[in-house]
Amino acid sequence: MKNYIQIKKKIIPYNKTIIVSSDKSISIRCILLASQAIGISKIFNVLESEDVINTLKSIKKLGIKYKKNKKFYKIYGLGLKGFNTQKKLVLSAGNSGTFARLILGLLVNSNNYIKIIGDKSLSKRDFSRVVQPLEKFGPIISSNKGRLPVTIKGTDFLRPIDYIEERGSAQCKSSIMLAALKTPGMTRIKAKKSRNHTEIFFKNLNIPIKLKNKGKYDNIVVNGEANYRGFNYRVPGDISSCSFFIVLTILNKNSKLIIRNVNVNSTRTGIVKILNKMNAKIKFKNIRNYKGELIADIEVKSCKNLKAINCPEYLNSSAIDEFVIIFLVAAKSKGISTFKNLGELEKKESPRLTVAVNFLKEIGIKVSRKKNNVKIYGQPGLELNGNYIIKNFQKDHRIFMMSCVAALTLGGNWKLFDRDSINSSFPDFFNVLKKLGVNLN
Ligand code: S3P
Repeated sequence: MKNYIQIKKKIIPYNKTIIVSSDKSISIRCILLASQAIGISKIFNVLESEDVINTLKSIKKLGIKYKKNKKFYKIYGLGLKGFNTQKKLVLSAGNSGTFARLILGLLVNSNNYIKIIGDKSLSKRDFSRVVQPLEKFGPIISSNKGRLPVTIKGTDFLRPIDYIEERGSAQCKSSIMLAALKTPGMTRIKAKKSRNHTEIFFKNLNIPIKLKNKGKYDNIVVNGEANYRGFNYRVPGDISSCSFFIVLTILNKNSKLIIRNVNVNSTRTGIVKILNKMNAKIKFKNIRNYKGELIADIEVKSCKNLKAINCPEYLNSSAIDEFVIIFLVAAKSKGISTFKNLGELEKKESPRLTVAVNFLKEIGIKVSRKKNNVKIYGQPGLELNGNYIIKNFQKDHRIFMMSCVAALTLGGNWKLFDRDSINSSFPDFFNVLKKLGVNLN
């Protein structure tokens, strides 16, 4: 199959209800925690994307059995010492930073050398952020100057640590929490606020954890070596995958969309807060609590009078994966939008700030950038009619999906390469577009 799509027509108005793919962060955490439980866990609605499949394949290599049924995955957990690490192993993380960083936390007690490798994009990303704290627990870890491959050999003499996590990285925090789970005694983490799914799982599974809100930080204390039983879980929809359809609807004429069963945990909904400040009227309906996570249906409508935003920095972490699509809304808004301190965006599947700024310039939007701060000069009347070829060399799924939304709402003749990139997070992306009336070739 050719690895590009062509878009030559704008999307027509729609009034639809959809569901989007399951949450990637939660799917990966759920599988990893099920692998550490004693007994069988049943996980419904697992996201079947490449990042999650790599997680499943890796736990299998580590001796954890799983079975796929029609509706759920059964995972046969063997407890906190259940990974079979007698032999040297190589685990492929593919494109998944979340899996690669979290599994290292669970390998602090491995018996042999376990090597983590990744694809071209993941191999460029920073792993010193997890290697440094994890080494303090006692394992031997080597890396390629802070990048993959990373090899870990655990120890039976783990010691709890005190650590300050300053980046607001949930992957880093979660990796430390999973290592703490394996370690006797109390591990204390002071972590800049970030998505809190791991904390919610710990509470839910009765793993001893204490949480204190300290302004920009959370104080987390984990009391390790607590075994827990297998569990059942139904993974909700992913707000990050929804974000492309939220923006598609805002920028399309006379359209309305309801997206059902989405995780709207406040550590993930920065995009909704930001877009509503820009005049969008996104609403959460039927809000309910599921095992500590907030789930809702999202209602969104077209918006004609978008206005620029001076984006408050405290929303950076809860919108970190959505900035590229938020920038597209800024490009169509009245006024100059500013976004500050987005250094972490450069550390994603591609240097996303650079790639997104280049994209905006390519479609004729004035952007000024100083270090990790950007100003986007919006053009509410922006309409395109040229030819655009987007080559997504680093196969960044979010850049690809944002480009599709731009093509479908701004006009022009587009050829978008690296369509396969969607497989890391949202393999159903094109099917959902088709449901909304898009004809793709
Ligand atoms: C994730 C955390 C974020 C996010 C990534 C998923 C997670 O990364 O960008 O897509 O599941 O914990 P950082 O922890 O590096 O900010």
